[in-house]
Amino acid sequence: MVNHTEKKLTEVIRERRATPGFAPSPVDEADLKRILGAGLEAPSGYNMQPWRFIVVRDPEQRKKLRVAARNQAKVEQAPAVIVACGDLEGWKNGDLDEVLRVGREHGFDDEKQNENMRKAVSSALSSQPNIAMWVTKQTMIAATTMMWMAEVLGYDTALMEGFYEDQVREVLAIPQHVSVICLLCIGNLQGSDKKYAGRVHPSRTVFSERYGKPLEP
Ligand SMILES: Cc1cc2nc3c(=O)[nH]c(=O)nc-3n(C[C@H](O)[C@H](O)[C@H](O)COP(=O)(O)O)c2cc1C
Repeated sequence: MVNHTEKKLTEVIRERRATPGFAPSPVDEADLKRILGAGLEAPSGYNMQPWRFIVVRDPEQRKKLRVAARNQAKVEQAPAVIVACGDLEGWKNGDLDEVLRVGREHGFDDEKQNENMRKAVSSALSSQPNIAMWVTKQTMIAATTMMWMAEVLGYDTALMEGFYEDQVREVLAIPQHVSVICLLCIGNLQGSDKKYAGRVHPSRTVFSERYGKPLEP
């Protein structure tokens, strides 16, 4: 493993920036596995894990992906790009069965409860008014967990939403029922980092007890 000392999460939260440019130095394979593994431990509604991730390292694929990502150079520069996707139909095409099967391995072997769970999830997700939003919600948590893990291991990251979904789908052979949610570039900063642009005052975004009531009097 390349990075022997892990950074503290508090430090990473303070110092992380959306990396503007990446050096060609690779992401260590074992580190990449840890980054992916961290994301796969993320929580999700009903533990349904509708996310799908495509790890893009091949330079030719990164070049094509760059074009699909509005020609943003960092997609080609970053040695590893994780393309975070969500399967809109996964829950009815095997995910629910698999989640129940894995649950059994972990002691959830009350079949009556499992059947209730199957019915509850099927009912909730078949009547979910915005399945794309639901899938996005879950997938962003996993992708963000990968981002923090990469930063803890000493890498620099860039989350990206600037891409043409149909083009990304074509480059990576992603089927229509799978939506492309974000790209996560991972590598090492080259050049100067992005300047901190600050955050709006919490009085605008954080409330107490009810919407609009200030937290601090
Ligand atoms: C979901 C998401 C998508 C983003 N997409 C892009 C992008 O396509 N291109 C880009 O240059 N920056 C992108 N950014 C970076 C943001 O512009 C950046 O996070 C923001 O300006 C705050 O800067 P900081 O992350 O350095 O604090 C994205 C960030 C997020 C969270």
